[in-house]
Amino acid sequence: MKKNILITGGAGFIGSHVVNLFVKKYPDYKIINLDALTYAGNLENLKGVEKHNNYEFIKANILEAEVLHQVFTKHQITDVIHLAAESHVDRSIHSPLDFVYTNIVGTVNLLNTAKQFWNQEEDHLFYHVSTDEVFGSLGEAGYFTETTPYDPRSPYSASKASSDHFVRAYHETYGIPTIISNCSNNYGPNHFPEKLIPLFINNIIQEKPLPVYGDGNYTRDWLFVKDHAAAIDLIFNKGQKGGAYNIGGFNEWKNIDLVKLLCRLMDQKLGRPAGQSETLITYVKDRPGHDKRYAIDASKLNKELGWKPSVTFEEGLDQTIDWYLNNTQWLDNVTSGQYQQYYSNMYGNR
Ligand code: NAD
Ligand code: TYD
Repeated sequence: MKKNILITGGAGFIGSHVVNLFVKKYPDYKIINLDALTYAGNLENLKGVEKHNNYEFIKANILEAEVLHQVFTKHQITDVIHLAAESHVDRSIHSPLDFVYTNIVGTVNLLNTAKQFWNQEEDHLFYHVSTDEVFGSLGEAGYFTETTPYDPRSPYSASKASSDHFVRAYHETYGIPTIISNCSNNYGPNHFPEKLIPLFINNIIQEKPLPVYGDGNYTRDWLFVKDHAAAIDLIFNKGQKGGAYNIGGFNEWKNIDLVKLLCRLMDQKLGRPAGQSETLITYVKDRPGHDKRYAIDASKLNKELGWKPSVTFEEGLDQTIDWYLNNTQWLDNVTSGQYQQYYSNMYGNR
């Protein structure tokens, strides 16, 4: 069956990899990318597909219910892959309401539109892309599984948890065919330099301080973004409707160990003396409510659909660093304008 897939947030970090993958892999599907182009959205991420016949970009906000209605009417949307979101925990601590509007109200707007158009027909899918942060914080041991109770602790994760609940509620109450996936921390090309890895790559290039929160002994489970996009493709096509899948890299790192590895790799790439970038490490005030550890058990996805990460962390980091070193214009563009102002407002001169 021919599909007309609405991808929201397709100009952002993960969304751009999903759009690039789907447009090229499925020439028979029409891919409609709807994105408000906030600070995190960037059409440069889509240069490789912008001229393809099966691709169309629409600059719009998921809060605009009427626009969503027009898009569903005009393009006869058969499926939605929903990635549009406010995605940074630090920003959510500063401005929680932005997260309520986009992540919760925006998601419900989209669900309402799908409900109006789809009439409970089974051959549709509303695929909601979510995060492992909805499960809260782990101690030293254990993993998040699909049945781990929700326990969000930041405004970001609370808003994503709420949107997940609405997606489930629309499935149970109105019969909308849905799937949710909860993924661990991503890294890779096109990542806006406010999250740990791209921020630190940019700061190392510029020989600026590397602000490590607290004692740096917080653990995250890192996944290369193209492996996340491949998992989304697999789940979109073969996943159980009404279900949920955890996606993770089986790749846990304490922040401080990851930062030291990044410093070593960057010194080699930049031809700097060993140990030079590590001198940039600066311990700063901790993030309020900082989750101690995230770790995903992705065995359901592996057993049911055969997915596993395609690159090791070393390979993925190597590709990522090379991408940033080869795309300094991209970095300059996204860090011009409001970027410096935002950082000094948010963090002061650290
Ligand atoms: P991102 O911040 O890089 O991109 C978000 C995109 O959504 C941007 O292009 C932005 O312009 C767009 N957008 C924001 N508000 C919008 C609105 N109101 N209407 C329309 N478009 C809007 O985010 P990302 O890191 O690519 O994350 C994508 C999705 O994946 C999010 O739902 C996030 O919660 C989830 N996720 C992210 C990670 C991660 O490590 N980055 C991990 C797991 C899940
Ligand atoms: P981040 O990339 O913001 O992702 P998330 O909070 O969604 O996991 O942060 C990853 C980890 O790095 C997290 O433990 C917070 C820490 N961190 C720093 O120590 N310094 C920083 O400047 C940033 C942005 C994050």
